[in-house]
Parts: sequence; C-alpha cells; structure tokens
Amino acid sequence: MKRENIKIVITAGPTREPIDPVRFVSNYSTGVLGYTIAEEAKKRGHKVILISGPTCLKYPAGVKMFEIETAFQMQRVLWSEFKTADCLIMNAAVCDYRPFKFSTKKLKKGKKALNIKLVENPDILKNLASASMKEKKLVVGFSLETEDVEKNAVLKLNKKKLDLIVASKVNSRHIPFGYSKISPYIIDKYGRCEKISNITKQELARKLLDRIETLWYTTSTNRRRGT
Ligand code: CTP
Repeated sequence: MKRENIKIVITAGPTREPIDPVRFVSNYSTGVLGYTIAEEAKKRGHKVILISGPTCLKYPAGVKMFEIETAFQMQRVLWSEFKTADCLIMNAAVCDYRPFKFSTKKLKKGKKALNIKLVENPDILKNLASASMKEKKLVVGFSLETEDVEKNAVLKLNKKKLDLIVASKVNSRHIPFGYSKISPYIIDKYGRCEKISNITKQELARKLLDRIETLWYTTSTNRRRGT
C-alpha cells in the first residue's frame, strides 16, 4: 500500500476543571498513549498537531503543540485545527463535568460537608464528528469502561459517528492508567472488532496508525474513482 502523508490532530492527557485557585476536578490520564501516537505518526512523515492537557511528558520533536487545561480550551483549539485536518485521534480523557462555579477565593475548611455542583461539559468529539466540516476526515475515538466494554464502545462509535474506536476496560484500582501494557479492542465502523492482548502503547500506536493509513488510502482511492 502506498503511504500518503496526512495532517493528524491528536489530543492527549486529562483536562482539568478548576474549583478554586488551588483545586480542580480531573482524572488519572497520563497522556503517554497520545504522546506515543504523536511520535509514531511524526516518524512516519505525517504532519502532527498535539493538543495536550497537563502531563509530565516531554514534547515530541517536530510536532506542533498546544497546551490546554479545560475541556472548553481543548474544544476551542480543536475547532480551528480540525478544519484543515485529515484525521482526528481523540485520545484525551476529557472531563465530562466541570464545577458550576469557579471560586476566585480559596475555599476554606471548617464545613462538615462541602457540596460542589458539577455541570456537563460539551461532548467535543460528538460535536466535531457530526459537524458539516467532517467531510471525508477520519475520526478516531477512545472508550474506557468498567463493564460491557465492547457493547458500550460500539454504542459510542455509532453515537459519535466515528470511523474507529479503541476501547479498554478500567478496574476499580484505575488500571490501565499509568500501565505500560494494555489489552484493548479496536472496532471499526464496518463492525469489525479486533481484541488485542497485552500490548505496549508503542505497539498499539503502530497498529492504530496502520489501520488509519489503510482506511485513508481506501477512502481516497474510492474518492478518486468517484465511488
Ligand atoms: N470525549 C469528548 N468530550 C467529552 C467526553 C469524552 O470528546 N466531554 C471523547 C473522549 O476523548 C473519547 C470519547 O469521547 O475519545 C469517549 O470518551 P469516554 O469517556 O469513554 O465516554 P463518554 O462519551 O464520556 O461517555 P461515558 O463517560 O458516559 O462512558
């Protein structure tokens, strides 16, 4: 297969939703998988844009970086970068909820209980994938579930109009966050499901980019043929 170089936008890491100047709501994402995909894509000659939440990782060389904190900031950067992209790999663990109010003053202790009201964040991936500018772009999502991993991933793939989804099971000790090996499913929009056991994030990055390149090549060949 002939490889075409494309523009790939990758999101990675968690988002942080601030409560007050010293506290936030977030999750256990380390960003390692997203950064590994970005490095591998760059090595293959693709143009790579990495939009990252807060992580402890070194920037991959030769990649255009955007650092964000909140889901809204990620959405803003994505709307402008997605327009000219060929592919989006939405690996970031976007917080589904944010505190309703940000307190500019530090919240003080002394209350027996503290209620923090959370409100829903936009579903960035769903909004982008259903936007008219999606056209022939490839959109890849990720899914984390404690149960019914495959079934829920298929539901997300259809609901968010994705081309591919990578789904993993997370347990109550928040494994696989921070682990070097994972056992994901890769499911495509044609209903093909591949269950992979115990691979490194680098191996997954390669596998995923192989799948994306094949899909891109097939789609652009069909486009040229007008089918
Ligand atoms: N996602 C997003 N915006 C959100 C939440 C998630 O773009 N507000 C993206 C994630 O980056 C991921 C995909 O949607 O690629 C699925 O995320 P996941 O957390 O597994 O599922 P949700 O859609 O958030 O649904 P739920 O948390 O109820 O499982």
